[in-house]
Formats: sequence, C-alpha cells, structure tokens
Amino acid sequence: AVRLRVREALAAREPAAAVRVQGWVRSVRSQKEVLFLHINDGSSLESLQVVADPSLEKRDLTFGSAVEVQGNLVKSPHRMQNMELQAETIHVVGPCDIWSFPLKMKERHPLEYVRQFPHLRCRNNTLGALLRIRSEATAGIHSFFQDNGYVHIHTPIITSNDCEGAGELFQIEVKAKESAEETHFFNVPAFLTVSGQLHLEVMAGAFTHVFTFGPTFRAENSQSRRHLAEFYMVEAELSFTESLQDIMQVMEDLFKTVTSTVLSKCPRDVELFHKYIAPAQKVMHVTGKNCNPVILFSSSCRISYSEAVEILKQAPQTFTFKPEWGCDLQTEHEKYLVKHCGEVPVFVVNYPYDLKPFYMRDNEDGPQHTVAAVDLLVPGVGELCGGSLREERLPFLESRLQSITVCLNYRYLDLRKFGSVPHGGFGMGFERYLQYILGVDNIKDVIPFPRFSHSCLL
Ligand code: 4AD
Ligand code: MG
Repeated sequence: AVRLRVREALAAREPAAAVRVQGWVRSVRSQKEVLFLHINDGSSLESLQVVADPSLEKRDLTFGSAVEVQGNLVKSPHRMQNMELQAETIHVVGPCDIWSFPLKMKERHPLEYVRQFPHLRCRNNTLGALLRIRSEATAGIHSFFQDNGYVHIHTPIITSNDCEGAGELFQIEVKAKESAEETHFFNVPAFLTVSGQLHLEVMAGAFTHVFTFGPTFRAENSQSRRHLAEFYMVEAELSFTESLQDIMQVMEDLFKTVTSTVLSKCPRDVELFHKYIAPAQKVMHVTGKNCNPVILFSSSCRISYSEAVEILKQAPQTFTFKPEWGCDLQTEHEKYLVKHCGEVPVFVVNYPYDLKPFYMRDNEDGPQHTVAAVDLLVPGVGELCGGSLREERLPFLESRLQSITVCLNYRYLDLRKFGSVPHGGFGMGFERYLQYILGVDNIKDVIPFPRFSHSCLL
C-alpha cells in the first residue's frame, strides 16, 4: 500500500486503492452500521475521516491512540471534505489511556490549560497550527533574505561581547568539580549571545548584505507577556547605507513578504487563531476586511522620539511613568503612541544619545543629543524591531567607549580602521512577530517549549 500523509490524502484529486495512513486519533464515533475516525498526523489542521465497518472497532482504538489504517481513498459525500478513507484494516500502533490523557476529545482547550502540558500540547489544534505557522514563517524569512541577495551567517551563540550593554547576560560556567579552582572555561568571561549584530557587522565588511536568524538570550527579570529568556531574533546588516529610511524599508518589506507567505501557505492555521484566539480588534490590522500585510504599512506612521514625547505629554491620560525627554519609552507609552497614530505600525526614530547602546551613530545634533536609531512599534505588542545606523567613524566610537564600560572584543574597533563604510541594520523578535500576526496575548504560547522561558518556572 502507498503511504500518504493526511494532507496529501485530503488534497488527492482521484480515488486511490490500497493506501496507508498513519497518525493519531482525534475522534472516534461508533454507530450501529459504521465507525467514524478522524486521523491527524500534523501535516494539516484538518484531519482525515476514516469510515470503517464496526467490526474493526477495538477496545484500545481510542482518542489519542496512534494508528495505521489501510484502505481505499474515495470521494467523500460530505460537503466539508474532499476525500475520506474506507478502512480495510486498522492497527493500533500505540494505545492511549484516555482517562489520564490531559487532552479531551472535541474540546477546545484554552491556551493556559495546555501550557501545563508542554510535552503533549503539540497534539492540540492550536499548538499544532502555531508550530506549522512558525515553521513556514521561518522558511519565509530565509527565502526573503536569500531572494534579496543576503548571505546567511551563523553567528556564535557563545560570545564575550555584550552587544546591547544592558547587562542582561547569561554567563557560561563549567559545573564546578569538588576542590576545583574557579576558572573561566575560555580564560575570559563568556556569555550566551544577546544579539548577533557585532558578528554581522564583521561580515557586512565583506558581503554588504548579511542576515542571521538564531536563538538569543536575555536574562531579563521580567514576567511580561512579551519577554522571553530564550527567543529567536532575525537580524540584518547592510553596508553602504546612509539613511535610516533604507533600514525601515527592509523592516517593512520583510514583514510584508513573510506575512503574505504565511497567509498563503497556511490559511486555515492562521484562521484558527483569528477566529478563536485573538480578540477581534487585534488582527483586523493584519488581515481585516480592507487591510492586508501589503497595504498595512501604507498607513504606517513615522515620528521622531522628540515628537513622540510631545504627543505623550499632551495625552489626556496620566501614565505611571511620566513622559520626559531622555527617558525610555515604556509599554504604556508605546501603546498610547500606536493608538494615537490610529492602531497602525509606528516607526520612532532618533532616540536620545544617552539611552541607546554604544554602537549607534551620533546625529551630532543638540542640545537634545540623539543617535540614528529606529524602533518599530506595532499594535498589541509594542516594540517589534529595533535598529540603527552604526557609528562607522573611529574617533566617535573611541570617545564613546571611553565613557562607558561594555564587554567588547577590542577587535571590533579594527573594523573602523580597515575599509569602514556607513552601515546599519536591525533585529526583529520572531516571537513578537508571531504574536502580532496571530493576535496571541502571551509570548509563551508562540514557542514550542516554554519551560525556561521566564525567570520563574511555570
Ligand atoms: O531592540 P533590540 O535589543 O535590538 C538589538 O539587539 C540589536 N542589536 C538588533 C540589531 O540591530 N541587529 O532587540 C531586537 C528585537 C526587539 O525589538 C524585540 O522584538 C526582540 O528583539 N526582543 C525580545 N523578544 C522576546 N523576548 C525578549 N526578552 C526580547 N528582547 C528583545
Ligand atoms: Mg530595542
């Protein structure tokens, strides 16, 4: 018999004899004259209906069990599905104790409930859909950059740099043996990366367009719904770039292209989120009636940090953190700005010099001294991307590094001595991207394994 995935069986144009389908039982319905099963193998949100003679029913053929069904694929008389499988044999490969199995047949379990079972929640529709979307979005991100001539770089996970200078570093230690002296494994302190940017900058000195997309770690002592200790960041770096406009354009193109890919590759999976998970108003902006990712940005807003502070100061509401030039924008501020601009993506540019990391390019303005930074804020999530032009002028960089301490491999400065060019780039949080397009409130629900995602365990 020919082995078919559920997705292939459902999409078949013609009936086919002697096929074999493997998967997990999503429902069993036994009637006097016929036994109905639904089989899912993760290849699609939809399950394959199996129609069998009641004589094939067995005690361990239950919800959750793993089965292999052989039979004939035929046109289904039901409106809702194209094909169904008429079973000749049903073999229970792995039984499932339905009484202790935490997922229940035909129930729409809330995300908070399935979060307690990270080892089983992928067998649930919502997490199944999420993981397929995550996989397509990952492929879409790689395609976007490859199609636009970027070289993919595997930047190191263990590094001695603290790119962001925010001190949110996980340090690498060797488990101490008794009596062993405390030494660094690498002779110098080493950390899990907080950003691949500094390594991308090295490569942008040879390739002009590079990107990386990998795990990123921040020891943020935060229980928020949009921070993780381990997350994925997409980062791009472009040489011969003198304007923030170029960086914003790549952010926008990346968003549009990847979102269009996801919407066309897994429409049913996305629909599940928009129907059952996202509060209605949240996703309207991405896929609503007269909005789609391509036109979404046509109404986006571009403001400077100084304008943002003015808008906040004139806001009719009071904030927990009083808006003041020179202070970080808080979540409440970001929310207000997005609302003020009409619940569209908002680019905020030119932040205070003293607020941002050492590598950002000095705008040489004043008295309110700024750097060429850009953050992209989006409805429901807040900061989705952060980027900047980089300080490519050696004297500026040297003088800045004199006034701050940051763990940095000194060779970084070499890049400014040997063929330095104006350049810039950005990073996009992959989980926040998923939260935004799917309307998911808690960032824990868009990752495969949430155990070490926050400073306190689940
Ligand atoms: O704004 P960030 O800190 O920028 C950088 O790290 C730059 N070096 C990137 C670059 O220019 N190459 O982080 C970029 C994005 C944020 O906008 C946010 O979406 C996401 O990464 N992010 C997090 N996502 C989940 N959990 C966290 N703890 C995050 N911290 C940042
Ligand atoms: Mg940032």
